[in-house]
Amino acid sequence: MTPAAALVLHGPNLNLLGTREPGIYGSWSLADVNRLIGEHARRRGLRVECRQSNVEGQLIEWLQGAEGERFGGVVLNPGAFTHYSFALRDAVSAIRLPVVEVHLSNIHGREEFRRRSVIAAVARGQISGFGPQSYLLGLDALLATGERGRVNRRAAPRVPRASTSRRSAGSRRT
Ligand code: DQA
Repeated sequence: MTPAAALVLHGPNLNLLGTREPGIYGSWSLADVNRLIGEHARRRGLRVECRQSNVEGQLIEWLQGAEGERFGGVVLNPGAFTHYSFALRDAVSAIRLPVVEVHLSNIHGREEFRRRSVIAAVARGQISGFGPQSYLLGLDALLATGERGRVNRRAAPRVPRASTSRRSAGSRRT
């Protein structure tokens, strides 16, 4: 059986975790967060790979390639791209894999410009405000969608989806 696999993507400036505004993002380094993610994934029997880039195009490439790399879902912290990157949004919308948007901080309780996510409407869902735990909840959310069955290439019951304009207009997922 192919082990279930998830790709975790950290966007710009998240490489600075630990020293970057610790009052907001905490004192965990990115390596610490990735270790927590790895431990959590192991407990769930999930293979996980964590990547970080400050480059929008690189994140898009990874999203586009995720299914070909046999990942079954993506946990994405788009960093500041959350708030304005239509290119990233289009990539999330274009791929068939479920993407869970996560944030360390509660973006809805911060500056006005952070309260808007251009990604959220095309992500499977958004988890925001739980520090590193947001990523772990993101992994659990992926598993809860039943998409793990897709990873294992076994027939998995489709999860009923809330009807949105995106989904009702010809979803490519089967
Ligand atoms: C963030 C929130 C964004 O507004 C910010 O630009 C980040 C981190 C978070 O995880 O809380 O880089 O995505």
